[in-house]
Amino acid sequence: MVRTNNISFSYKEYDKAEELNPDDRELIQAARDSASNAYAPYSKFRVGAAIRLESGRIVCSANVENAAFPSGICAERGALSNSISNHPEDKPVSIAIASMTEDGLTDDSPSPCGSCRQVIAEEESRTGCQIRIILSGRTRTSVIEGIGCLLPLQFTRKNLKLNLP
Ligand code: THU
Repeated sequence: MVRTNNISFSYKEYDKAEELNPDDRELIQAARDSASNAYAPYSKFRVGAAIRLESGRIVCSANVENAAFPSGICAERGALSNSISNHPEDKPVSIAIASMTEDGLTDDSPSPCGSCRQVIAEEESRTGCQIRIILSGRTRTSVIEGIGCLLPLQFTRKNLKLNLP
């Protein structure tokens, strides 16, 4: 017996920043500010990520590149590493991402790369709390409810069959 399964997801797209709630607008601004601090001399593509923790605290990071290209790190993974290392008990609830080229903010935000999706999935699984992903472009913003939408059929700690807390 063969079944054809279908996976689809819905997400919200806002045409104007004013349509978002003030917390999300603040988070987007933090991601944009962070992007301007990126160290991206090779790609000249600057990315900022800002994470809202359950307490309301915001933790940010930008992409940091390296002459040995694979040693660079994306903004999203930098921000998660920052929040987990410094506020392990405070769960991330949202992450806003923004990017800039030499011409300024990009029209669309980059969607997290595969490695960042996997790290966001690990954090959702560690905390048991879904993370809203806010892709912020110059004008348009997309809000995606959880990494399951961007990384379906994911490999998680559950697959390892270990006795983890
Ligand atoms: N980058 C990020 O920081 N996040 C993304 O979501 C996509 C890509 C960085 C990696 C590299 O420094 C530059 O953008 C170009 O790929």
